[in-house]
Amino acid sequence: MPATAQASPPSRAVVAVTRRLPAEAMSRLRGVELRLWDSDDPIPRKKLLTMVEGASGLLCLLTERIDADVFRAAGPSLRVVSNMAVGYDNIDVTEATRRGVLVTNTPGVLTETTADLTWALILAACRRVGEAIDFLRADRWTTWRPLELAGVDVHGAVLGVVGAGRIGQAVARRAAGFDMEVIYHSRTRKPGFERETAAKFPDGRGPSFRPRLADLLTEADIVTLHVPLTPETRHLIGDRELGLMKPTAVLVNTSRGPVVDEKALAEALARGRILAAGLDVYEREPLPPDSPLRRLPNVVLLPHVGSATVRTRTRMALLAVDNLLAALEGRRPPAPVNPEVLRC
Ligand code: NAP
Ligand code: GLV
Repeated sequence: MPATAQASPPSRAVVAVTRRLPAEAMSRLRGVELRLWDSDDPIPRKKLLTMVEGASGLLCLLTERIDADVFRAAGPSLRVVSNMAVGYDNIDVTEATRRGVLVTNTPGVLTETTADLTWALILAACRRVGEAIDFLRADRWTTWRPLELAGVDVHGAVLGVVGAGRIGQAVARRAAGFDMEVIYHSRTRKPGFERETAAKFPDGRGPSFRPRLADLLTEADIVTLHVPLTPETRHLIGDRELGLMKPTAVLVNTSRGPVVDEKALAEALARGRILAAGLDVYEREPLPPDSPLRRLPNVVLLPHVGSATVRTRTRMALLAVDNLLAALEGRRPPAPVNPEVLRC
């Protein structure tokens, strides 16, 4: 049982932390009464529900579902839920706000790292890097053949960015090095981004013109997804959308798994309706052993490692701790998700 409790004066805030964090971040928690799930593995749901009882703060990871049951178990003492991730679809923010609980996340510190990883997937999927590695290791490399393991060019291709926020824009900036044309789809038009990267709405005809995802999907050679998971973006890419893409197109997803209808994607890949995909996120994580995606050669699969560099994960943990402590001390945290709670 890896949970540990540190002795502390009763006046100190009780804080539940659902995973062992990098040492630098743990040391910043010295001043609180800490209930730590001192493990590298996720806290079992039952333990989570008991650990939060009477806590003022909860620092959690994207693997924990923070729903009404958790808020109920915590009780009225809970003031802040600090997520060590920029995505916060694991948290019922509406319920948190209703209860006056502040939710925070870790935007910005992971933007460039996640954009780098997105490019790793773009390159790997277009140039069949995973297949090529397997091919060599399986001793199938017997000679040089004109079209063996031939993929599609990245340079000069049209990159379609869906969700032109921090990460989407960072991915688009990198496209300049590959002489690509960038088109994008977002809820709002981004003139600064368009100036910086020469990115275009696929149908960009003035600031009030609503960008159409369908146009982007039809025109792009590579479609890369960077929207948060919300009720509007769940299955944003399904059978119909995949059908709009070119048969030579590649889909990359480093946002959240449920943004893509995985069953439809597996079918599209199996039938050659699109060329390939590169995925870091899945509808169910870890990806189940029986997922049809695992059997397809034309998909590169990564285990949700978009932000996984030592520096960035440490910065995420530090920001999560700073958010938590600021909220508990009555200061405005660096990254509030529901700042309206602060005005209550
Ligand atoms: P962000 O700055 O908030 O960007 C998200 C963008 O998505 C916003 O610009 C927003 O557009 C757009 N958007 C939201 N709803 C949309 C909709 N219905 N249709 C079209 N566009 C929509 O967030 P970020 O920091 O770039 O992170 C994006 C997501 O990446 C996170 O939410 C997280 O789920 C995921 N992520 C994954 C990893 C990983 O390890 N794989 C790492 C980091 C983040 P407007 O600006 O036009 O409103
Ligand atoms: C990772 O997936 C994040 O949202 O930070």
